Amino acid sequence: MIYYDFDQIVDRKGSNCVKYDMLNEFFGVDDILPMWVADMDFKTPDFIIDAIRKRCEHEVLGYTFSPESYKMAVLNWFHKHYGVNSRWNKMHFIPGVVQGIAFALQAFTERGDRVLVTTPVYPPFLNVPHRTGRFFVSSPLKTVNGRFQFDYEDIEQKSKSCKLMILCNPHNPGGTVWTKDELISIAEICYRNNVIVVSDEIHADLTFPEFKHTTFSTVSMEAYNNSITFFAPSKTFNMAGLASSVCYVPNPEIRKKFFAYLDSNELSLGNIFGYYAAEAAFSKGEDWLKQLLSYLSKNIDTAEVFVRENMPELTMMRPQASFLLWIDFNAWNIPHKELVRRLVKDAKIGLNSGVDYGPEGYGFMRMNIGTNRVTVIEGLRRIASVRPNLI
Ligand SMILES: Cc1ncc(COP(=O)(O)O)c(C=O)c1O
Repeated sequence: MIYYDFDQIVDRKGSNCVKYDMLNEFFGVDDILPMWVADMDFKTPDFIIDAIRKRCEHEVLGYTFSPESYKMAVLNWFHKHYGVNSRWNKMHFIPGVVQGIAFALQAFTERGDRVLVTTPVYPPFLNVPHRTGRFFVSSPLKTVNGRFQFDYEDIEQKSKSCKLMILCNPHNPGGTVWTKDELISIAEICYRNNVIVVSDEIHADLTFPEFKHTTFSTVSMEAYNNSITFFAPSKTFNMAGLASSVCYVPNPEIRKKFFAYLDSNELSLGNIFGYYAAEAAFSKGEDWLKQLLSYLSKNIDTAEVFVRENMPELTMMRPQASFLLWIDFNAWNIPHKELVRRLVKDAKIGLNSGVDYGPEGYGFMRMNIGTNRVTVIEGLRRIASVRPNLI
């Protein structure tokens, strides 16, 4: 078995990457440790880079359609990991998941319609409805035993005025892996109230082995017949710059309408490198993913121990999937704006501000630990350096 070295420090500065090279735009300074935007600092695995190199050997990069071998690799991965036994006719290339959500909103809702989300949540779930002239209606998540839970009564009541729900499965920023029963309840409520469910499953592959990701559409006939699922290798294999997502739409009527929308917008051809990279990821990525999850899990252990020993008043939600920590700083009793200022200006660390995820994020920050352990520890030290005197 090949051993992958996740401890390796990769200098990403100057590579036009959002995380390191857009600090001034987002934080107003550039001398901070970036632990924000959700990509990882690890090298994209060699089998993906090799696939791109190999395609470059043919020195013409003209219009390309999706290779059969790519489709097989996607379908096999979906089947093996999530028990989805599909043919390609139910799938479609999508450049990015956020774009896919915007397309679904435009295909299935009208301007002025309401869209249901549960907050706190990944900010585009709030921004995309707004930017496309829709309104979001938010159902706050409850925190029970260190994990998010849905408020079904609230969702039932709010769904009556909504046309579509955007579900984050697994959840960002909480890293919650929704159980089959939880998803069955969401499917029932949405079906009963004619609310189509768009399930964003971009973090699914990063579910830690103690938990089980469930693809929304598989939980019941209500889910199967009333959903669009988005999925991508981008988080898993650190290739978000390659635009190579897919959607899965099992219900024929929804599929016909959605694929017609996509095709009328010329979204079928895709991107040469995205196809070859995704094929390599899904056909050669098992070992890499196993080792990545083990490394990330140890990063989370490291953060938990550090917080317990140095800042025990903070509450950190232990993610069941992915590399994002949702940290509650409210015990510091600092107004949110001042908390952000101290972290950026004094601690010199770039985290995501909790209020961008909805009002429930007041006093929270999201920290990206998808990096080498030395950086994780350095980030935690910087946070601890601005810990107020709590007496
Ligand atoms: C839940 C979720 N969906 C979508 C995305 C972005 O997807 P894409 O780059 O494919 O638009 C992210 C990235 O952080 C995410 O966390």
